[in-house]
Amino acid sequence: MEFAKTIESVRSQVKAARSGGKKVGLVPTMGALHVGHISLIEAAVEKCDFVVVSIFVNPTQFVPGEDFEKYPRPLEADLEICKKAGTDVVFAPTPEQMYPAENITWVSVEKLTESLCGQFRPGHFRGVTTVCTKLFNIVAPDIAFFGQKDAQQAIVIRRMVADLNMPLEIVICPTVREPNGLAISSRNKYLTEQQKKDAANIYKSLQKCRQMIDAGVKETTEIITEMRKILQQVPSIEIEYISIVDAETLRNIDRIAGKALAAVAVKIGPAKLIDNILVDVSK
Ligand code: PAJ
Repeated sequence: MEFAKTIESVRSQVKAARSGGKKVGLVPTMGALHVGHISLIEAAVEKCDFVVVSIFVNPTQFVPGEDFEKYPRPLEADLEICKKAGTDVVFAPTPEQMYPAENITWVSVEKLTESLCGQFRPGHFRGVTTVCTKLFNIVAPDIAFFGQKDAQQAIVIRRMVADLNMPLEIVICPTVREPNGLAISSRNKYLTEQQKKDAANIYKSLQKCRQMIDAGVKETTEIITEMRKILQQVPSIEIEYISIVDAETLRNIDRIAGKALAAVAVKIGPAKLIDNILVDVSK
């Protein structure tokens, strides 16, 4: 496995692979890798011949007051994980490589970024879409892999790629969970064992949503009320939002018809955690 710190270096390695006819996959990450990330790398290894994993804690997607400074950066362990998972190149640039000057050119996706996390993290998605555009331009992958865990992010990126005719495919991989249902996240490192147990109620609330839909309930306020009760069983959980939105537009809906996304964001101790499930009543 190669380690590229500079844009030139990763570009020349991808160029060599491509001239050998290889299909290039990119897995963008911020490091602190876990089995969720590994599942994306494995999907990339399966679908592509040459896999680049980027590790970059992107400053432009952190809102003031968020955990940019504190965000874990265990590079040695991350490199080991990438190697074991079959990565060809890890691209881990410095902030100076990615943003050599004040950034004044942005890529923004409208509408889809207004609901869910967009309400609470102003500027976050603009940072994500800008850095992903930069990574796509640097690596020029055939396929980039994202996780369903960050559903809004994946939908926003897919729309950006379509709207701007970017020449790559976006693959969205399923959420990997702990045995108790907690979605695995780099931010789970901030939690105590008790808080991790408490956080299992996030998935329980989403399961309740699915059960109610399976039982024929369609009114979202009714479902959200029951989900809220499950989250409120745990005093350490502070609810940021519980939303049921149209899976394409991400707008709130009153009644579920067709594909919907049920999404939850909570704070537990120092960590903000998000999770979601897709439901489809047309099936
Ligand atoms: P990061 O939080 O490191 O996540 C990198 C990718 O891993 C994202 O596509 C995310 O959805 C996916 N992922 C995280 N936890 C997962 C889980 N439990 N199961 C499946 N996939 C999971 O998301 C980012 O970084 C950044 O915003 C980034 C896209 C790299 C841009 O800076």
